[in-house]
Amino acid sequence: MLVLLAGGAGYIGSHTAVQLLDAGHDVVIVDNYSNSSPEAVKRIAEITGRPVRAYEADVKDRDAVSRIMQENSIDCVIHFAGLKAVGESVRKPIEYYRNNIDTTLTLLECMNEHGVRNIVFSSSATVYGEENPYPYIETMRRGSCSNPYGWTKYMMEQILEDAAKADPELSVVLLRYFNPIGAHASGRIGEDPQGIPNNLMPYVSQVAVGRRDHLTVFGNDYPTPDGTCRRDYIHVMDLADGHVKAVEFAARNKGTEVFNLGTGTPYSVVEIVEAFERNSGVPVKYEFGPRRDGDLAEFWANADKAREVLGWTASRTLDEMCRDSWNWQKQNPEGYGN
Ligand code: NAD
Ligand code: WQD
Repeated sequence: MLVLLAGGAGYIGSHTAVQLLDAGHDVVIVDNYSNSSPEAVKRIAEITGRPVRAYEADVKDRDAVSRIMQENSIDCVIHFAGLKAVGESVRKPIEYYRNNIDTTLTLLECMNEHGVRNIVFSSSATVYGEENPYPYIETMRRGSCSNPYGWTKYMMEQILEDAAKADPELSVVLLRYFNPIGAHASGRIGEDPQGIPNNLMPYVSQVAVGRRDHLTVFGNDYPTPDGTCRRDYIHVMDLADGHVKAVEFAARNKGTEVFNLGTGTPYSVVEIVEAFERNSGVPVKYEFGPRRDGDLAEFWANADKAREVLGWTASRTLDEMCRDSWNWQKQNPEGYGN
């Protein structure tokens, strides 16, 4: 299949591109590099030994996306092209709604124009909101999101589901990611946040490589075994494999299906730091600080549906997640900026 990766130069998109190519599919990347680098595209080609076609374009630009679909006979779209920083979304809600919702509408309009029938969407565990019990299961009610970023995911899920209801030919797969970390085992592609990282693993690995002095652990008085928050961390390569399965599933399905992509096992912040130290051999200085607004004490996935329907399970261990994150960070201390 020829798969259009909107936002395919980013963290999850680049790893998915590698796994799709290795599985024998072809990819076309569209990215405006607002949060990524063309260097990632070169490295996808280097890892796979396959040429990668990439367009620098804004996915909100209908003419550009339509032209790309005209030039390439696309079988499936994966929509990664979103802004994703939770705190920034609180400060810049309009920018987040504009980018995330417009990209979705533009892709759907162009797919309709060019007869593309399958779309896989990067959703998030954040759509389960603040009120559901864990582990989260796909049938739970969505909503009560704690920030505009989360609401964009909620709304985009709704838009895609409504589009599939109206068009019996359309196949929509909503993938709700838990906490992706890790990198390709080669260390050639990985997560390269701009500025100060918001997320835990890039912060930990930047402390280890000497770019940051210490990690602040946000809260140690949660009702969890060690008092720090617990999350369902998943290796980005497992997540990428989930996309290969989802694309293949989308091609044989109609309507909307939702899948959690997580491991089903939570780890605490302190457990992550300790696992990172064990696997890198580098001490990570940390201090306990106040809780971060909007953080939930803990949550994790029920990933049974993905196993049963897609035949997918996350197989990589926490040690592999830490080892591969470190391998990427130490080879690329400044990310793709090197
Ligand atoms: P990322 O920022 O690394 O990748 C997103 C890519 O989209 C970037 O390359 C960026 O340049 C591109 N992009 C953004 N807006 C665009 C536009 N208008 N036109 C063209 N390109 C555009 O993020 P990621 O971690 O790879 O996440 C991919 C998707 O998965 C996002 O939608 C994100 O919200 C979602 N997601 C991520 C996580 C996570 O923890 N990383 C968790 C759940 C969901
Ligand atoms: C993990 C844990 C923090 C940084 C976010 C989004 C979610 C999804 C994934 C996109 C938490 C703690 C973190 C630090 C810390 N993204 N932490 N010190 O918040 O679970 O999820 O990313 O869709 O929507 O909300 O991930 O990596 O930010 O935090 O103690 O410097 O690490 O409190 O418990 P989170 P995270």
